[in-house]
Amino acid sequence: MFYITFLPERKSIPAEKNKTILDIAFDNDIVIEHTCGGVCSCTSCVILIKKGVEYFNNISEQELYQLKKSEFYSSRARLACNCKIVSDPKENILIEIPPIINKEEL
Ligand code: FES
Repeated sequence: MFYITFLPERKSIPAEKNKTILDIAFDNDIVIEHTCGGVCSCTSCVILIKKGVEYFNNISEQELYQLKKSEFYSSRARLACNCKIVSDPKENILIEIPPIINKEEL
């Protein structure tokens, strides 16, 4: 079994497929902001996938549109409410939750 480790807490939980990272975090008491309630209309749930990005679903046009507004936008950035693991991981996944204080709010 492979795990997702969330930084900076360094909390590791089993990597579940087909469930959003926001839902996985919520179910495991890991706080990720979600100002719009998870409907892809803000950037508060931005995360950085440091390792294992290839196991995730593709970015939709709407997600990309929102991501480009984030100060954390990069090839590793995703919105936690829109990304999910869709293929079987062959290694552990590493996700960083950027500091809340720096997040852009809409
Ligand atoms: S919670 Fe707003 S885009 Fe994810």
